[in-house]
Amino acid sequence: MCGIVGYVGHRPALGVVVEALRRMEYRGYDSAGVAVVGAGSAASGPDESAGQRAAESGTVTALKRAGKLVNLTEALAEATATAPDRFAGTTGMGHTRWATHGRPTDRNAHPHTAAGFAVVHNGILENYAALRAELEADGVEFASDTDTEVAVQLVAREYAAGPTAGDFVASAYAALRRLDGAFTLLFCHVDHPGTIVAARRSTPLVVGVGDGEMFLGSDVAAFIEHTRDAVELGQDQVVTITCDGYTITDFAGTQQDGTPFRIDWDLEAAEKGGHDYFMLKEIEEQPTAVENTLRGHFEKGRIVLDEQRLTDQDLRDIDKVFIVACGSAYHSGLVAKYAIEHWTRLPCEVELASEFRYRDPVLDRSTLVVAISQSGETADTLEAVRHAREQKARVLAVCNTNGAQIPRESDAVLYTRAGPEIGVASTKAFLAQVTANYLVGLALAQARGTKYPDEVAREYRELEAMPPLVQQVLGTEKQVRELARELASESTVLFLGRHVGYPVALEGALKLKELAYMHAEGFAAGELKHGPIALIEDGLPVIVVMPSPRGRAVLHSKLVSNIREIQARGARTIVIAEKDDDAAAAHADHLIEIPAAPTLLQPLLATVPLQIFAAEVAQARGYDVDKPRNLAKSVTVE
Ligand code: M6R
Repeated sequence: MCGIVGYVGHRPALGVVVEALRRMEYRGYDSAGVAVVGAGSAASGPDESAGQRAAESGTVTALKRAGKLVNLTEALAEATATAPDRFAGTTGMGHTRWATHGRPTDRNAHPHTAAGFAVVHNGILENYAALRAELEADGVEFASDTDTEVAVQLVAREYAAGPTAGDFVASAYAALRRLDGAFTLLFCHVDHPGTIVAARRSTPLVVGVGDGEMFLGSDVAAFIEHTRDAVELGQDQVVTITCDGYTITDFAGTQQDGTPFRIDWDLEAAEKGGHDYFMLKEIEEQPTAVENTLRGHFEKGRIVLDEQRLTDQDLRDIDKVFIVACGSAYHSGLVAKYAIEHWTRLPCEVELASEFRYRDPVLDRSTLVVAISQSGETADTLEAVRHAREQKARVLAVCNTNGAQIPRESDAVLYTRAGPEIGVASTKAFLAQVTANYLVGLALAQARGTKYPDEVAREYRELEAMPPLVQQVLGTEKQVRELARELASESTVLFLGRHVGYPVALEGALKLKELAYMHAEGFAAGELKHGPIALIEDGLPVIVVMPSPRGRAVLHSKLVSNIREIQARGARTIVIAEKDDDAAAAHADHLIEIPAAPTLLQPLLATVPLQIFAAEVAQARGYDVDKPRNLAKSVTVE
């Protein structure tokens, strides 16, 4: 939710910042903007009116545009065609926005500028209304409808006339101390080229450490092409960067440490690699994502987690499991419930993280809360984790981003090793989450003794056998794409499943909604006759996820009956079924075959055609597959 970048060094900042914004755009694409601090170039006066042209405040030169990054880059090309030095300077910052306060217009785009300061922001300043009223009473005139602008106006006032007057860094601290809410903020000032002050509270910020240059980014993709040495900032920390290094303090200015780490993936992982869009690349990476997620988690006959601050005794004392997550991560949790209850005999509830803390769930020391999040930043999930910990529950995070806030605040962590996921729609992260959730279930079963070591080993081996099967399912791509093109002009598609196939149906519907903006709903097949069957009409496409006929036979035959019921009412059935499932094939207007797999693991296969289907329908409808409208990759506001 909003991508932020900052640079101080020896190269022209504009190029570094724009390239970083390209990699951050998946975090938000309502608008984009840059600001460059020039070292001593002539002031040319502000011309930011309506945000249509380059805005210059002293030697801070800013330009911002509503819409995707391409609008900004076109405007930059125009602005620099006649004045190539206009953005000269080796200190700069940039922003891609997902709008919260104020419509996505040029004037509301970041950076916001005032009296030689420029500020970019991710998050929500909760006390902005009171601060704005205070500043307006002081005669300050606001140029936007955003909450962010109070930050730049505050720092400008402090620098002009506060107790910290004339001191850039101290004025930034003074402004920061007035702010409530969740924020990452970057400040630069016209008279201090070579310095950026940045702060984070509950939203992400990482520092990239280069040779004579320093970077800031919402995530490491912002600077991966320049350095792999990074420093993670903690909650409520402020970092000041210059080309020589960085200092970290708390908001009071007391010296603190960050956590240095080495980025373990390279630039290639953040590139499309010849694919039309990231999502397709990420769908194809799924066998590897599953394989990597399993790697290193079964050693000496035991399941091992990545960070375990819980003892086996703690796990034995658990008497209830809650899974909290959002969107696709929530669906992966719904899949996990079947395995966790089956393997551990513990009751397991799966909750939307955004609802969890508001309904006062019964939590205590013997509750395990499993928080699933690709980004590790999702505000709803983070707040659910905090609520759980306040109630003394144990928290285990399943996360794809090393050192993100959710794992940092958890008692144990299992990292999905899917690599960076850039497409807004979750694909490889979802499969990796399903895989990791199974490992969590097995770790619990192992600690509690509800499965013998050889049973745990057998389940693990079955998981290990999945990547080549996922690869086989990728072979359905051509067939699924053709089907998608055929159905691209439909107005509704329904999805049905039972047991673990039900969350797969929900996931298939979510993918189609978010990418193709099509009405899509997933149902538990048995629930259909309690109302939704009224939606069935002649020719309506219904995608059915069939369980294996070999696993739970009753489940299979019930679903065959459900297909017959909808076929009798005119539905066009698209059936995803195990190879050689003749009963399912007999009722399929269109059959998509997947390899045989244990019932609990089938979601790792059945989800894949649904991802391809949604992406292709979106493409056929002319939509941006990687950046669907109104969305952002990580949702750092509640
Ligand atoms: O980063 P997270 O896993 O916490 O994100 C959760 C959801 O926002 C995410 O899965 C979202 O639903 C995806 N766009 C779905 O494709």
